Amino acid sequence: MHHENINKFLGLCVSEKLCTIITSYCSKGSLRDIIFNDNIKLEWMTMFSMISDLVNGMNYIHKSDLAVHGNLKSSNCLIDNRWVLKIADFGIPSIRQKRDKGELSMEKILEDQFWTAPEHLREIIPGSSQKGDMYSFGIILYEIITRSDPYECDTLETANGKQGAIQRSNFLFLPVKKLNMVDSLIGKLERYANNLEEVVEQRTKELREEKKKTDDLLYQMLPRQVAEQLKKGQVVNAELFNDVTIYFSDIVGFTALSALSTPIQIVNLLNELYTNFDNIIAKHDVYKVSVVGTAMPRYCLFGDTVNMASRMESTGEPLRIQLSQTSCDCLRTATGYIISLRGETDIKGKGCQKTYWLKGKLGYNKPLPEFWEKTERERFQF
Ligand SMILES: Nc1ncnc2c1ncn2[C@@H]1O[C@H](COP(=O)(O)OP(=O)(O)O)[C@@H](O)[C@H]1O
Ligand SMILES: [Mg+2]
Repeated sequence: MHHENINKFLGLCVSEKLCTIITSYCSKGSLRDIIFNDNIKLEWMTMFSMISDLVNGMNYIHKSDLAVHGNLKSSNCLIDNRWVLKIADFGIPSIRQKRDKGELSMEKILEDQFWTAPEHLREIIPGSSQKGDMYSFGIILYEIITRSDPYECDTLETANGKQGAIQRSNFLFLPVKKLNMVDSLIGKLERYANNLEEVVEQRTKELREEKKKTDDLLYQMLPRQVAEQLKKGQVVNAELFNDVTIYFSDIVGFTALSALSTPIQIVNLLNELYTNFDNIIAKHDVYKVSVVGTAMPRYCLFGDTVNMASRMESTGEPLRIQLSQTSCDCLRTATGYIISLRGETDIKGKGCQKTYWLKGKLGYNKPLPEFWEKTERERFQF
């Protein structure tokens, strides 16, 4: 007899006085032990799994040459370490009957009769039968569901007694379903693990997005190399650049413009302006140092170069780019830039210095603002 729900018969140990049946060991004991162990919480899933194991095992016995168990009871249903129910103590009636007659107390014999069908108890049908097993199965179901002894409730006895064997169903008509608690638990765990994977993936995605946001913010506030070094927890060393060009820009007439506009118009104007600046900056090896007047300076530059750049803006003209001598020399070396001399400009702290207008670049075909003369500019009240 080989079946998952049949306890394995290993052999017989026969001596003159004693005959021992050796079977597989089921570490959790019998179903009866489980039912009456208050420390074990029996969930419906566990009960259902054990019941379906019992049905599967009995189905197998009834289809086998043995055909009948004959001593089905909760103490003969063993539970292994994987919570699989294994039916035990069937077959080899010659040995078992000897044992029953010889050694069992009256109390034990009477107790076993709880699972014996009335027709067999009254010996209307002598011995055992499949329908008798079905009766025993009914008693086991009662034990599992109520977690109490059979016949603690009188009405059950009466009811069972009256019904008789004929109306009872048969194991062969019960659905054989593979349902093992450990398998279903593993299934549950797998589903849980899969769900966890999804959750982890989702969270990682969110984390990545948040990290990108903070990185973007950091890159806006600090030059990229500095930000990278800070992120790695490294000390940021001062860097020296032999040549840098600093550009100062101003919105001409911003105060007058603000007075004539609604706040949202100002916000939109600034937003559009900064977005355009940022787009241009992104294309070149350029870093936006600070937005003076509208935001806190984030990364401070100081020194002669900065002062010079600042003067280029304050002495400049609307819609024009004024170049210092140094910047002009650089652009001339690069070639292709259209530059004209503005003349001598008084630079605070530096006296009169030659400055230039950057008017365009060869190959740059996008429209540029017209180069108005100062008188025209005054007409437009900039
Ligand atoms: N193979 C086994 N593995 C684990 N426990 C067992 C096994 N066989 C029997 N038992 C335990 O021993 C108890 C007594 O079994 P048994 O001698 O068959 O008497 P009964 O089934 O009439 O109670 C069972 O209720 C069960 O707890
Ligand atoms: Mg037994």
